[in-house]
Amino acid sequence: MLLLAPMDGLTHVAFRRLVAAYGPPDLFYTEMVSVRAVVFQPPERDPYLRHTETDRPLIAQLAGREPELFEEAVRRLEERFDFAGYDLNLGCTRGRARRQGWGAALMEEPELARKIAAAVRRATRKPLSAKLRSAPGHDLRRLLTLAEGLLAEGVDTLVLHPRAPEEGLKRPPRWEEIATLKRETGARVVGNGEILSPDDAIRMLETTGCDGVMIGRASLLRPWIFRDVRALLKGEPPPEPPDPLEPVEILARNLGFLPGEWREKRFILWLFWYLQNFPFGLYYFGQVQRTRGIPQKIALLKDLLTPERIPPYPVRIRQNR
Ligand SMILES: Cc1cc2nc3c(=O)[nH]c(=O)nc-3n(C[C@H](O)[C@H](O)[C@H](O)COP(=O)(O)O)c2cc1C
Repeated sequence: MLLLAPMDGLTHVAFRRLVAAYGPPDLFYTEMVSVRAVVFQPPERDPYLRHTETDRPLIAQLAGREPELFEEAVRRLEERFDFAGYDLNLGCTRGRARRQGWGAALMEEPELARKIAAAVRRATRKPLSAKLRSAPGHDLRRLLTLAEGLLAEGVDTLVLHPRAPEEGLKRPPRWEEIATLKRETGARVVGNGEILSPDDAIRMLETTGCDGVMIGRASLLRPWIFRDVRALLKGEPPPEPPDPLEPVEILARNLGFLPGEWREKRFILWLFWYLQNFPFGLYYFGQVQRTRGIPQKIALLKDLLTPERIPPYPVRIRQNR
């Protein structure tokens, strides 16, 4: 089972359709959606919730801290859309999440996390996952207590990014905690963290016994990675990577699915990652960022990328954001 990770500002409908064009994962995730926004604004007009037939099945990832808002948000989404399921964001470590007490901050409040899971369960019978990080200080007992509580309230899949909240994206993830979570809970467990090649995906599946793998940043650099993992699972060599300009053009076309005022910003957010495929990518990014207008950006990228080739795996992430 292959899953596209939720990434704020990045896994919107335009990007998900780009991924689908090369070979979709088994499940797409939206970027995180605030339950407060869903409850207090009309969801049918919310660009975070926009999706099409192509980027499905799609899980809506929900962020917040009030169980009643989670319940109400899911009821509203159930009335209006056909999401394949929901996910609870218990892993976000941004400053805002820390200050307002949602995301990874909820790992410190297992009782509240449980109440949130129970509230969502009251509102839907659909699949429900929770995306966790390792517990602070890699305290396995705390992770397992939280996980057991969530499972008892009807969460059916645990997604684990085994870095502690205080580690951000630094330090190698401890994949062995994925194996422990699987072994100790017997639940459906999806592993995530630092899958940078199809080989890594297979290695995570084999060494941890997890039921699926979720890929984040590597899919921003190689939106075709799911196709390549599938090929390797079948024992076939990965197909040739596309011409470097091709995904740029596909994404630019797909930006039409987003509101006008979002398009250029979202394009540049993705290019920050995609251009890291190339040794001088961060320099290219600076140039593209200074160029105003999507058609002008594409024209510049055409010049910059024509001599380039996509390098072999593993993906090299030169800078995080
Ligand atoms: C730019 C960015 C935005 C992210 N936004 C979210 C988010 O909205 N919700 C979430 O649960 N995780 C979020 N994450 C974490 C990823 O889903 C994933 O757990 C993390 O990047 C590790 O996986 P990877 O090594 O495959 O990238 C984000 C990560 C990045 C780099």
